[in-house]
Amino acid sequence: MSERTADRDWWRHAVVYQIYPRSYADSDGDGIGDLPGITSRVPHLARLGVDAVWLSPFYPSALADGGYDVDDHRAVDPRIGTLEQFDELVRTLHEAGIKLVVDIVPNHSSNRHAWFRQALAAGPGSPERERYVFRRGGGADGELPPSDWTAIFGGPAWEPVGDGDWYLHLFAPEQPDWNWDHPDVRADHLRTLRFWADRGVDGFRIDVAMALAKDLTEPLPSAADLADVLDGDHRFFDRDEVHDIYVEWRRLFDEYDPPRTAVAEAWVPAHRRTRYASPLGLGQAFNFDLLQAGFDAAAFRRVVTDNLRFAREADSSSTWVLSNHDVVRHASRYALPAGADLDAWLLSDGKDPEPDTGGGLRRARAATAFVLALPGSAYLYQGEELGLPEVADLPAAALQDPTWLRSQGAQKGRDGCRVPLPWTAAGPSFGFGPGGSHLPQPSWFADVAADRQDGVPGSTLEFYREALAQRRRLPVSEELTWVPAPEGVVQFTRPGGWTCLTNFGPDPVELPAGRVVLCSGQVRGNLVPADTTVWLEAEQAPPSR
Ligand code: GLC
Repeated sequence: MSERTADRDWWRHAVVYQIYPRSYADSDGDGIGDLPGITSRVPHLARLGVDAVWLSPFYPSALADGGYDVDDHRAVDPRIGTLEQFDELVRTLHEAGIKLVVDIVPNHSSNRHAWFRQALAAGPGSPERERYVFRRGGGADGELPPSDWTAIFGGPAWEPVGDGDWYLHLFAPEQPDWNWDHPDVRADHLRTLRFWADRGVDGFRIDVAMALAKDLTEPLPSAADLADVLDGDHRFFDRDEVHDIYVEWRRLFDEYDPPRTAVAEAWVPAHRRTRYASPLGLGQAFNFDLLQAGFDAAAFRRVVTDNLRFAREADSSSTWVLSNHDVVRHASRYALPAGADLDAWLLSDGKDPEPDTGGGLRRARAATAFVLALPGSAYLYQGEELGLPEVADLPAAALQDPTWLRSQGAQKGRDGCRVPLPWTAAGPSFGFGPGGSHLPQPSWFADVAADRQDGVPGSTLEFYREALAQRRRLPVSEELTWVPAPEGVVQFTRPGGWTCLTNFGPDPVELPAGRVVLCSGQVRGNLVPADTTVWLEAEQAPPSR
């Protein structure tokens, strides 16, 4: 078996590191991160020990939604780089043994996409408009939206174009939804997947994978009738036909050696997730259950039990996510009382309630170590290896997330986890680049900068490096066995004599038998303190004489 073929299951147990390109590293000083910047940071990724990078959109975009409004899916935004620089990034990553996953945004294009412009120019009833979801408006002159649906970012889900037609956008008005019943739309996406797969991309992250197939037969139901109706009955979320699209994609992925991988972003009830993760479809699906759970022993254990079962049923592997570019960073979530309203907290500029920053970081490290001990693949988000909390006090004038405007100030949005990374304690934009930064960085970034943590025992950066190095020694397997533990403690073993214990409770607990190979905090004598995870390896029996 060739080495390439032997590697076809890499995604099952990979540590995948998400890069939000505009906020990672800026090589030319324009304040926007770019591909050469990322390439220059491959040594950081290699030293961290990740198996793959997932790159959020780097395609040409007006940034109405941070790049998830794509003008052209087979090009690079000139502010971010060129195709040659993309190839260079692929080469550098591969030389370092790191795979690359790119983001595909198939539910919508941007309103600057060539086909959308053509649709606008061609007018009502034209074939060009059929690639999107245009409907006549209600009222005498089409002045009313075709239905009362609201967009996910707030406001109506229909936008008028001035000639009596309206188009559907489940997200921002700059993100018109594709009509997936149209053969051009299907063919064009196959072309896009092939384009990147041919350039050496190893896998794809599929944005809002559950929304592509839509039933828009008249009469359109009201928003109230659609609320919470899932299990395949919703007019545009998680319809069964969506999987026909992914079966076609899978055929394409499997033409490659090793087959290209895919992971679905599908916000669906857990029991529906298995369909996306099927080997006949995308192969893997994100599980956001831990990200939505509090730092709580019972919740963590339940989520793991359920998801290991779902993954088995799907013949896939589990995924674990604590942070990404859409949510408040986990070091901040765990710094707040359980159940705190995160939108309200952001609106208070991170002051109300006052975060327990130290406790948040302690719990974040414990949760990360817990996740990294599990079977399946772990998705890390840039900056969590520095223990970064959310930048919760961004001024309103700096906010870019469409959520802020569309919700009319009711939600501050997701910019606080997208602030460009602090690489150095000194220098312009904390080493992000030679110029400024497209979102303002707080002065406390100096304290958490990568160079302040590099080589410092006990720093979060060194802890992540150690955790990833130790994880590589874990036998690859989907097996996990729970060990009975006191309330507030979760303990399990993995093949090869590994034990993981997390103390979620307030009091120290006894250290199990074995040699400690990793601790998210500090073992004190024979005790594991509160908010701490330890990994232990069975002591080798002394050689018999
Ligand atoms: C996904 C992305 C998010 C984006 C949305 C619309 O949820 O993760 O960032 O805003 O899709 O494309």
